[in-house]
Amino acid sequence: MAEPVHVIRKLEHALADDDFAWSLLLVGEDQTDKLATLTGDLRGPFSTSGDGKQITSGFSYWGIGPTIAWANATKDPFYLVMKTGAESFLRHWRKVRPHVERRGFHFVSLGVGTGVKDATILDDLYRANRQMFYIPVDMSSEMLRMGTLEPVRGARFPMAQVLPVQLDFSIADNMDELGQMLTRLVGDEPLLYTLTGNTLANFESDEDALRIITRVLRPQDRLLLEVATTTRLDQEAADAAADEYHQTRAFAEFVTSALRYNTDLRIDNDQIDFRGEVETDDALRVKIVWRNNTNEPIRMGLPDHTEVVLDKEDTILLYTTRKFSTERLKKLTTACELTPIEHAHSGFRHTRRPSPFGLDLLLLAPDSSGVVAHTLADDIWAQ
Ligand SMILES: C[S@@+](CC[C@H](N)C(=O)[O-])C[C@H]1O[C@@H](n2cnc3c(N)ncnc32)[C@H](O)[C@@H]1O
Repeated sequence: MAEPVHVIRKLEHALADDDFAWSLLLVGEDQTDKLATLTGDLRGPFSTSGDGKQITSGFSYWGIGPTIAWANATKDPFYLVMKTGAESFLRHWRKVRPHVERRGFHFVSLGVGTGVKDATILDDLYRANRQMFYIPVDMSSEMLRMGTLEPVRGARFPMAQVLPVQLDFSIADNMDELGQMLTRLVGDEPLLYTLTGNTLANFESDEDALRIITRVLRPQDRLLLEVATTTRLDQEAADAAADEYHQTRAFAEFVTSALRYNTDLRIDNDQIDFRGEVETDDALRVKIVWRNNTNEPIRMGLPDHTEVVLDKEDTILLYTTRKFSTERLKKLTTACELTPIEHAHSGFRHTRRPSPFGLDLLLLAPDSSGVVAHTLADDIWAQ
């Protein structure tokens, strides 16, 4: 008896000649578990500092409402980090590109967003390796569908070599499973993982998040990390960092959208607080919180039809972001056993006074790669 033809191979043929906008999606997690997690996080204890109820990284982008709100925010010319990021990325990538161009990397994009940066990377990697796979990974299936459209169409990348994966990559088991699945997919061929758009800054512990990702790097793999940076670490700089996000209405829409779509809370913009602080003397952290600034308790309905009471002054942490000092980046990469191979930096130049803020792109190899970059690393960290 003939072997049955595998459904994926049949599907590839079935979709090839169809003009309808099908997209394939590999779902790594039960989405009801995700909703239960979000609901549980919103039931946290009373806190005036954003340390009780919270929307953790990934959930801020989860679902169609937040996805659209994010796409709108990235197009807002007042969202300066995003605007400067898009402008500097091309320049930074050109500096990094020679290190990855000729080795035939497959591309694993952790957190696709709108896919604009992926388009640039994919275009170059595909020219160097026509057999490569593009594996965009995101919490949000809607983000995956929207974010992969541009890179795939722009580079005329074959759909048969795209494998979008819906997964929360901040969970160690998920990342381990992803790494194992990718090894079965590509064998010993190298993978370029990317974590761009300052996504690392959104996690409660940036070090834990980076360690979870770097644990799966094999000696031949590389990680491209884009972070927001600061040369100043004082309260004035922290306030300026918070202010940067305050300036854009589209960002406020985005940052509140997960709450709007998953609860019945009525949100006024004057209930949103942008709080800047110096974190462990080596980074600036901005917490964006919803705060009950009325004199009454507010009842909030949750997705499981239960209610929580938000007392006067209670908060819900909506979003965390950071600006890293060189010292913090050095500590993070050392703790995660990473060697910097290349580095590009741009300072913000849109302000009248010199700004301490900038964006950095780092190409990193696991220490197990044997790449000796001590002198190079010194140069990189000296910049
Ligand atoms: C700040 S955006 C960056 C987008 C893009 N990489 C860029 O450079 O513009 C963060 C992206 O990562 C995704 N994301 C955030 N946390 C995640 C998590 N824990 N697991 C999976 N995806 C996550 C979001 O859905 C979003 O697409």
